[in-house]
This record gives sequence, structure tokens and C-alpha cells, in this order.
Amino acid sequence: MISVCCVLVLGLSSCAAPGSGFLEAGGGGRRLQQPREFARDVEPHRPERTDRSERSAGLNGQTCAAPAAAESSLRNNTHTFTFKVRTMGSLSLAWVGDGSGVLLVLTTFQVPLFMMRFGQSNLYRSEDYGKTFKDVTHVINHTFIQTEFGIAISPDHSGKVILTGDVSEIGGFRLFRSQDFGLTFVPTNLPFEPLIQMLYNPGDCNALLTLSITLDLWMSEDFGATWRKIHDSVCLVRWGPKNSIYVTTNYNGSCNDKGMLELKKTTDYGRSFQTIATRVYSFVLGGRFVFASIMTGTGTERMIHVSVDGGEVWNMAQLPTVNHEQFYSILSANQDMIFMHVDDPGDSGVGTIYVSDDRGTVFSKSLERHLYTTTGSDTDFTPVASLRGVYMTSALTEGGAVETVISFDQGASWQTLRRPENSHCDTETSTNRPNRCRLHIHASYSTTMKMNVPMLPLSQPSAVGLILAHGSVGDAESSLSPDVYVSDDGGYSWLLALRGPHHYAILDSGGLLVAVEHTNSAVNQIKFSTDEGQCWHTYNFTSDPLHFSGMDSEPGSRSMNVSLWGYRNDFSKWVVITIDFRKLFTRDCTEGDYVQWLAHSAEPSGSNDGCVLGYKETFLRLRKDSICWNGRDYAVAKKLSPCPCTVNDYHCDFGYYRPENSSECVEQEEMTGRPLEFCLNGTTEQLLTSGYRKIPGDQCEGGFQPDRKETDLRRLCTSNVLYPHSLTETSSPNAAVIVLVVIVILLMSGVAGVWLVKKYVCGGRFLVHRYSVMRENVEANKIEGVDDVDTHYMETGKAQYNEDSDQDLLE
Ligand SMILES: *[C@@H]1O[C@H](CO)[C@@H](O)[C@H](O)[C@H]1NC(C)=O
Ligand SMILES: *[C@@H]1O[C@H](CO)[C@@H](O)[C@H](O)[C@H]1NC(C)=O
Ligand SMILES: *[C@@H]1O[C@H](CO)[C@@H](O)[C@H](O)[C@H]1NC(C)=O
Ligand SMILES: *[C@@H]1O[C@H](CO)[C@@H](O)[C@H](O)[C@H]1NC(C)=O
Ligand SMILES: *[C@@H]1O[C@H](CO)[C@@H](O)[C@H](O)[C@H]1NC(C)=O
Ligand SMILES: *[C@@H]1O[C@H](CO)[C@@H](O)[C@H](O)[C@H]1NC(C)=O
Ligand SMILES: *[C@@H]1O[C@H](CO)[C@@H](O)[C@H](O)[C@H]1NC(C)=O
Repeated sequence: MISVCCVLVLGLSSCAAPGSGFLEAGGGGRRLQQPREFARDVEPHRPERTDRSERSAGLNGQTCAAPAAAESSLRNNTHTFTFKVRTMGSLSLAWVGDGSGVLLVLTTFQVPLFMMRFGQSNLYRSEDYGKTFKDVTHVINHTFIQTEFGIAISPDHSGKVILTGDVSEIGGFRLFRSQDFGLTFVPTNLPFEPLIQMLYNPGDCNALLTLSITLDLWMSEDFGATWRKIHDSVCLVRWGPKNSIYVTTNYNGSCNDKGMLELKKTTDYGRSFQTIATRVYSFVLGGRFVFASIMTGTGTERMIHVSVDGGEVWNMAQLPTVNHEQFYSILSANQDMIFMHVDDPGDSGVGTIYVSDDRGTVFSKSLERHLYTTTGSDTDFTPVASLRGVYMTSALTEGGAVETVISFDQGASWQTLRRPENSHCDTETSTNRPNRCRLHIHASYSTTMKMNVPMLPLSQPSAVGLILAHGSVGDAESSLSPDVYVSDDGGYSWLLALRGPHHYAILDSGGLLVAVEHTNSAVNQIKFSTDEGQCWHTYNFTSDPLHFSGMDSEPGSRSMNVSLWGYRNDFSKWVVITIDFRKLFTRDCTEGDYVQWLAHSAEPSGSNDGCVLGYKETFLRLRKDSICWNGRDYAVAKKLSPCPCTVNDYHCDFGYYRPENSSECVEQEEMTGRPLEFCLNGTTEQLLTSGYRKIPGDQCEGGFQPDRKETDLRRLCTSNVLYPHSLTETSSPNAAVIVLVVIVILLMSGVAGVWLVKKYVCGGRFLVHRYSVMRENVEANKIEGVDDVDTHYMETGKAQYNEDSDQDLLE
């Protein structure tokens, strides 16, 4: 039953890129998802599955003694709270502040009737990390809050909360604003009908933006008390750095007329606007880059333009020419560079990842046959948050199998994952092709394929080196029920941790891992590990099993309290069981509990000296056998030392690539004999290169220093199509680019399962989680139509997956 509830996840790592989001649903409906061979080893028999009885003892056997008196100390610290509201409708929850322990829960029951919505909302508030809740619906005067507007929490931890109440019976909408962590709310009538949730300025959370249903842009500088209209005909709005606002506007009142939009920017809260680009299809902010797709003079072609100065100077992205059937997608952007996916010709479902230079303009090839099936989000591309420079994704082999690859050097080279020591391959594979027995990680693509994968890979900056992920071992991703694997060194080595799919969470900065099995039946058991997933212990948290909906703890993974949400057999009421693991640990960690660990030194060959991007990092990490509490104030301690440059500090240059297993860069065939020219700032630059370009942000010194020179040929060219009149010559062939753009959110970490995890505001640590009641419940209760909203979320999972405020409302 739980598996019908689709699972969505969205986790943006920081406020640094408030605007990064879904840019264009490029080619929507045009590219059909290809059925493809997902696994060749569909043999259902797995010999190692017979030893199920060993599970609770930990898969690695020997030293798995449970902490003393675990059972009784946890029993005394398990709190159950039953909500009085029925499980119809939806439940959203939001953490307010950092370490405040305040959790707001909004339940909404709504019935759509023609054009009207009737419903009822209840607001609950906890001050003790979810152990107990008070019904505080009176503080919002029992006003109906539409699910879509949810709970808007300020990203600055200052305890600001906004709820958008629907008082259409007396005409209009009313804000409920709190500045004291949701204790009291001030009502304010809105002079317009909002279309999207309030957007906080990450730089000043008293400044708010929103769009009205008539596409007017409204702004408040006093935390929603007063509002003024600053622009009309706005299609998309984003906060940029330094209090800037970027909007696209239309002329004829229709945002569907993309390609005719103007991109405007204001730095004085809307008192004046500057047009920074015209004929814009869409735009996105990411890292220090602004990207816009801009119509070329003729036809329906678009080109990606990049600016690193907020839209003053634009350059066309220098990528290989593609035809108009293909699309482009920005997978990830940080302060130094971007990862761009370029679709292969034909409806192949694969493409090539290119990495940019520090200008975001000149790209070189990083990974071929990168899996990216449908439009939107069907890529496994995952930045690993717990170790610098690490990215995972999936590639399609020549044989059509999906294979996980990992890069430890920001995309300079990729390799397959090694087989975990404590696992074996499926029989057929291990006998026939022993060298192809590898670990494959399940991410978005697997959830899209409706495989039994309740969570995406999970990693946290505070839990150094740690990754939890579902995976399978074989020569390709297996469609069998996946198991949970753990890596403690940022993806170099992996360990089979739990058999079967689980929901998992990282607590106490990695000092404690918890997991709940993902099954169709009610559960009463939580598993926990104090040694980074080697040994797992179980705790029966209830005698009355719970239909488990999802697991939640305070964002940031520093908490020791974890809440399990669900309902009992009668389906009627939400139940939350919060377990405080603090008493499991009898002492705080001291100096002796930490050991030095050199990151990126896990190559088995021993050749790896830990140098990545020009320096090595030595971390102090908790010893696996230490059973103690890192504490809320734990900060990752690390020491940096510089490295000399080697070939690994270089991306292959424009026109070059690294063949598989090679560290040398070789010239791309299609480029040989052609001069390497590209267009920058309106003049042609000729590139003289031996094939290497330093990775943006790399800090290596001395050592390998290949020749590289960009010469200004003093020949004019088209570096952008924004102001073509001033140009006298046409562009070099390399500059002719781009058609469709799909920009995907940086998927840094996340959870899947029965969760609908919505990002509100600018992401950051404040995710708002929303549960949906399973559709079956509705049917079981013979009430029709009441679950429309949630059904919508379940069935249009993809749209929500990419959700970044208003985008899907525009389409
Ligand atoms: C749990 O609580 C009981 C009674 O409240 C107490 O006797 C017992 O010592 C407690 N156990 C632990 C491990 O704190
Ligand atoms: C609460 O709502 C009722 C009707 O819905 C209204 O009459 C009353 O004035 C409201 N109270 C406040 C304090 O807004
Ligand atoms: C607006 O619409 C008119 C007619 O419908 C059309 O001629 C004009 O080109 C449109 N303007 C833009 C900027 O799309
Ligand atoms: C915990 O629950 C499981 C069933 O989920 C049961 O098999 C086991 O005996 C229980 N353990 C204890 C200590 O009650
Ligand atoms: C767990 O919750 C309690 C309140 O019930 C709180 O005092 C404690 O600080 C929380 N622990 C952590 C590590 O957040
Ligand atoms: C790369 O190395 C792996 C194992 O070392 C080998 O199986 C594979 O065939 C190599 N690939 C190429 C293209 O040489
Ligand atoms: C391009 O122009 C910008 C702004 O005028 C300048 O900062 C940048 O250095 C120029 N780049 C090159 C390669 O000339």
C-alpha cells in the first residue's frame, strides 16, 4: 500500500542559488520515454537472500553488540502523539528556526467544487522536536489554508512564518504572519489574489515577492504588512544575489508566448528595471552565473547565453553544434563552473556531459552516453554533499544497460563503482563475467521507473564521507528489490548495509544512522547504527504496528530526535512516534573519539595521495567503535595542504576528451584539423592548447603545467544574439548552438518514499515536507473526490519533482 504513494524529493543544498530551478520543460511530450533494457540479470533467485536471519545481527557479523541498555533507554524516550484530525487530505510540516525544536504541522482537508474550494485546515505546533503537539488552529482564526501555499518559513532561521489564508467567502486572501516561531500570528489582508507562495529574499527576509493571478509582481519590504505592485505581465521571478530581482515579462499578456519575453533586473526593489535581454525563452540563476535561452534571429532556434556579471555582458555557451531535435540541460552549477548535459542526436535517451570553464562559456567533454531519458528530471546526476568534488550518475553501456559511474574530481574523469566486499554478484553474472560485477546505485531514474526505491542517495556536509544509497550488484542496475549500501569514504568503497529497501536518515552528524524497512505491511521496528552502517541494531518502538508514511528529523542531520509518521489500522488519524536517541549515548565525544582521515586516499592501489582540485583535506572523524554524542555544536574539523599539479587537476580542453580508463586527453575526431576558435566578448579567440585546462577552482601549484594560450584574432564574431546589429561578421561554426534547454535543479541530497518534500522559499535547510494519504484509504472510506489534490501530486510526480515555486503554474 505504501508503494502506491509516490515519492518526491527535492533538496537544494543552499541558498546560494536561489533561482536555480526548472527552466524549460524542453520538448515536453516530444521525447517519449524509451523502454529500455534495465537489467540483464532478472533472475529472481538470489542465494544470499536466504540468510535473512542474520540481518538483525548486522551484515558484517562479529562485533555487533548492541549498546548497553539500548532497549530500556529508548523505551523511556519514545513519544507517541495522535492527531485528532482524520487522515483525509494532506499534512505539511515545517521546521522553524535552527535548533529551536519548533515544528509546525498543517493539515488541510479540501473539497474542490467547480471553481470554488472549500476546506478546513488545522494548525499544530510542537516545541519539543515533535514529541508533543498543541492544536493552535485558533491563532489563524480557523482560516482555510490552501495546500499549495503551505507554510512559508524564512530561510534565515529567524523564526518568520507566513501562512496564506483563503477567505474568499468575504472576498480575498489574508496573510498570517509570525515573527516568533509560529507562537502568534498577525493577520493582514492582501490587496490581490496570490498565484504562488511568498518568496523570501535570502539576503533580507523582511523583503517578500509574489505574483498575483493577474501576473502582477508584488513586493513587500516590511514582512508582508504593506504591499506595492512593482511590475505587471511577469512570467517568472527569482531573487538574485545582493537584493537583486530577475523577472521575465511578456508583452501580450501570455506567458505561453515564450521566446518573446524580456529578461529584466532590478537592484532597488523594483523602483527601476533594466532590460538585460530580449527574445528570451527562459532563464535560470545558478552559482555566479545567469543563463538565458535566447531566440536566434531566424526560426525557432534558441541559444544559451551566459553572464557572470548579472546580465551586463553575455556570451554564447561554446558547445558543439547540435540539431534542433536535441536539448541542453544544466545539471549542476557552483561558484566555479557548471555541468551541462547535451542530448545526443536521435531519440536515444542519452547525451554527453560537458564541463565549463570558470567563465561558464567554453565547454569540454566530460562523460559520454550519460543517461537522461525524458524531459525534466530523469537523470541520476547526484552531487555528493559529504565529500568535495564527488558526483555520481548513470551511463548507458553499449549493450543498453544502466551503469553507475562516479567522478572524484569534479567531472574530469569517471569510473564505475567497485563491488562491495561483503556482497556477491547474481549467479549468472559472477560466473560468466566476473570482471563486470559492480555496484550500481539507484537514483531518480529508478524511482521514475517505479522500482522499489523509497529514497534517493543521501549525503550531508556534516557527515564527512558518508553516503547512503539503494543499490544492486551486477553488471547493470538490477530491477530486483534493491538493498541499502553505505560508503564511508565518499564513494570509493561501499558496504552492503541493509537488505531490502529502507527509509533512512542521518542523525548526530553521522554518529547515528536510522532506517525503517519499506514494506507493504505495518511496521514496529526501527534499525540504528552507531558505526556508519556496519552493524545495525533493532528497536521495537511500538507494540501496535504503524502503517509507515515517512520519517523526519530536523534538517541538517544534527538532531537526535527522529519522528516516524503514519497511521494505525483504522486509517482514521495521523500518528507521530518520536524517538529521542540521546540517552542511547551515555557520554559526549571527546578528543580520543576522533581519528584523522585523509579524504580521497581510498584508492586500493595506494597511488592516491588525497589531492583533489589542488589540495588535500585531513578531517577529524568519529571512530567507528566510539559510542558517543557528537552534539549539536559539532563542527567538522579539517586541515588543508596544497598539492602540486598533475594531469588530474585538468579538464580536457575544448575539443579534447578523456577516453575511458585514460588520464590523457585526446583530440575529438570531429575537431582534428580544425582550428580551435571560439567567440568571446565579440571577438574570435583562437585556442592553442595541448589539451588540458585547469579545473575551475583548482588550487594546485607547480608540477604539471601544460601550455595553453588564448589569442585574440581581432576578428569580430557573434558572441551573443542580443545585440546583433553592432556586429559585422558572422560567427564561427562552433558558436551555432542550441535549441531546447532543460535546466534541472541541483539535486544535492534528498529523500524519497511516501514523502512529498517541497522546497519553499530558497531551499536551504528548510524543507517543508508534505505527506499524502494513500489513495486506497480514500477508496476504503468510500469518499470520492476528496483526495484530488494529493492524487494530482501522485500522478504528476515529475512536475512536482522539479517544482520550484511558480514554474509549473505557468505551463
Ligand atoms: C526508564 O524509566 C523507568 C521508570 O520511569 C526507570 O525505572 C528506568 O530506570 C528508566 N530506564 C532508563 C534506562 O533510564
Ligand atoms: C475570525 O473569523 C470570523 C469569521 O470567520 C470573523 O467574524 C472574526 O472577525 C475573525 N476574527 C479575527 C480576530 O479576525
Ligand atoms: C502582440 O500581439 C500582436 C497581435 O496579436 C502582434 O502583432 C505582436 O507582434 C505581439 N507582440 C509581441 C511582442 O509578441
Ligand atoms: C520486535 O518485533 C518483531 C516483529 O516485527 C518481533 O519478531 C520481535 O520478536 C520483536 N522483538 C522484541 C524484543 O519484542
Ligand atoms: C531532542 O528533543 C529534546 C526535546 O524533547 C531536546 O531537548 C533535545 O535537544 C533534542 N535533541 C537534539 C540532539 O536535537
Ligand atoms: C577499463 O578498465 C576496466 C577494468 O580495469 C576494464 O574492464 C574495461 O574494459 C576498461 N575499458 C576500456 C575501454 O579499456
Ligand atoms: C569580456 O568583457 C568583460 C566585461 O567587459 C571583461 O570583464 C572580461 O575580462 C572580458 N573577457 C575577455 C576574455 O576579454
